[in-house]
Amino acid sequence: MDKSKKYIVTSALPYANGALHLGHLAGAYLPADIYVRYLRGMGCDVAFICGSDEHGAAITMKAKKDGISPQEIIDKYHTLNKATFEKLGISFDFYHRTSAELHHKTSQEFFLKLIEKGGELDEKTSEQYFDEEYQQFLADRFIVGECPKCANPEAYGDQCERCGSTLSPTELINPKSVLSGSTPVLKETSHWYFRLDKHGEWLREWIENGTIDGQPHHDPNAWKNHVVGQCLSWLNDGEGLQPRSITRDLDWGIPVPMPGAEGKVLYVWFDAPIGYISSTKQWAAENGKNWEDYWKGGPEKLQLVHFIGKDNIVFHCIVFPSMLKAHGEYALPVNVPANQFLNFEGRKFSKSKGWGIEQHEYLEEFANFPNKEDALRWALIRNLPENRDADFKWDEFVDFYDKDLADKLGNFINRVVTLTNSYFEGISPASSTASIPANVVELVNSLTNDIEQFNLKSAASSLVEIATWGNQYLQDTAPWAIRKTDPDSPVIAECINTSLQLVNLLAVLCEPFIPFTSLKIRQLLNLPKVENEELEATIAKLKNGEALLPEGHKVGQPEILFAKINDRNDKSRLEIIERQKAKLAAILAAEAAAPQPSNNSTIQQSFQPLKDEIQYDEFAKMDIRTATITAAERIPKADKLLKLSVDLGFEQRTVVSGIAEHFTPEEVIGQRVLLLANLAPRKLRGVDSQGMILMAENAEGKLSFVQADEAFGPGLGVK
Ligand code: 2FM
Ligand code: ZN
Repeated sequence: MDKSKKYIVTSALPYANGALHLGHLAGAYLPADIYVRYLRGMGCDVAFICGSDEHGAAITMKAKKDGISPQEIIDKYHTLNKATFEKLGISFDFYHRTSAELHHKTSQEFFLKLIEKGGELDEKTSEQYFDEEYQQFLADRFIVGECPKCANPEAYGDQCERCGSTLSPTELINPKSVLSGSTPVLKETSHWYFRLDKHGEWLREWIENGTIDGQPHHDPNAWKNHVVGQCLSWLNDGEGLQPRSITRDLDWGIPVPMPGAEGKVLYVWFDAPIGYISSTKQWAAENGKNWEDYWKGGPEKLQLVHFIGKDNIVFHCIVFPSMLKAHGEYALPVNVPANQFLNFEGRKFSKSKGWGIEQHEYLEEFANFPNKEDALRWALIRNLPENRDADFKWDEFVDFYDKDLADKLGNFINRVVTLTNSYFEGISPASSTASIPANVVELVNSLTNDIEQFNLKSAASSLVEIATWGNQYLQDTAPWAIRKTDPDSPVIAECINTSLQLVNLLAVLCEPFIPFTSLKIRQLLNLPKVENEELEATIAKLKNGEALLPEGHKVGQPEILFAKINDRNDKSRLEIIERQKAKLAAILAAEAAAPQPSNNSTIQQSFQPLKDEIQYDEFAKMDIRTATITAAERIPKADKLLKLSVDLGFEQRTVVSGIAEHFTPEEVIGQRVLLLANLAPRKLRGVDSQGMILMAENAEGKLSFVQADEAFGPGLGVK
């Protein structure tokens, strides 16, 4: 975090053809909101940008299905999604829409700039599917057929939603037009192709080393492993990067600004990310800012960070950066902290099956649930899919609420405000010895470091630990006991003064995570809401040993912040949860009663699709050996990594492995493993990693070592 820089933080523009569910919130919106609120608290100049993605064939298809115009669809969902985000406290500075004229103009100018540059866009003629009955070319989504990989009979021309494979329409077996149901014919049409193939070299340097032409751009170790891994697997793909068509034959979208291009529009994935720029422009125009300050300049001047879900990694780490580089005037992202997916009670969210809950449904169905916004934010934060898929469960929602918010945070605050009122008429007592202890300051440091490294789950744990410490401190000091024997003891004033400072600290620290609660705590303290820059000022006071709440300050009356869900005397909150669980039980019961489909679709869903075929030669290049882990240690400030010593029989290797969230160092010592021994060394967190341990991963993201029989010692080849 560097206050001298401008921050431009974006969340993926959601399609305006449907409501968003909790998985979306946990993926790209809530993490970005926490990060941005933190930056504002630290006094940074930040623009938090989002908006609706309103083009693309999916929107025209949905309109066709619902029998209304695309405009009606986007108006409906743009309004719904924007309002829902606001209600949940997602604090965008601007929520624009890609149907806006300014966005059309910005995208067309971008396209024309690439034409003007020369060598970035090629016009090419190719054969594409055409529906003769409807007399129109078919966008990928308008063609369905059998998936060549998993035999799903309803795969789309661009993707199979059952096995997740990326497809092209001509790969589909027995293709049909969605419009007429007829078999489409191939017909020539011309389109513009972005020369992505020209960008592979600098992209590799940028992603692997964080440099551009040898000049530092960002810290490559700050990027999540799964993001870098996905990028490298694209860059290492045998055929390399290919030119990508960026126009479509469609009547919904941004017209291609070229003579003779009537009936053609820009491809939605070309214009959508440009939406980050046009949204910033509109925000700047309405707020007296200069948008160029946030988009033009190197990383020494501005920091661009994209929050997205893992399905958008390629577009944000490969395609859009290449577009920005080709354009030549814009900054590149310094990080893309993509999240993995959130499942719901053990399955994928599915609107058609009613499995899951949409954000606006949650707000409606939890209308009478106290602190519903922060209750949800907190349950998602504690279980963010930061590095692997996570699973949302109502029972955990209850646990996180009752154990963290009610028992720890709420309880501490309530006790402190109550004691202040009963012992000191609500006035913070003078004490020359009151202070925040060093271990709490240490927890504050971990919290802020974790946010800066996008470890938001871990940051939230530090918050809980501070409240836990507060409760323990009250319990250990027991001012109520001292009062009985020595009512004038200075320890009582010291304890209440210190505790009130802690309460104020918690109000400031929890603002990025649970802002509605932060406001309530401040009301209890009789203070206005936490302002921008207040976090920075609070940390400075902590460092200087200054009080976080002045002596003599009068606080308000105590109030229960979080009434527990599991409460024997009041079942109202638990009933709201039970209703959600009952809905799911009804779906499962209906499924169990229905005849089973003949194919094994549910089983197939939990498997990754097979990768593209390779030749034996390519496999034979890998030198995989049996090995044994002989030592293991954590790497400071790298929650995911273990530094391992691995015995190969004939030599000892150091390997950095991303398994620290799955195994403790003690657990892995002595473990027999398979090692990819001829993988080029890579520096991770300053340590040279010489090889890679092979692991199996299940659908929940759990890892298991792969090993040979015990009688097979280290160093043996695997073939
Ligand atoms: O996957 C999606 O929901 C896309 N609408 C995300 C677009 S992100 C950006 F490029 F605008
Ligand atoms: Zn498939």
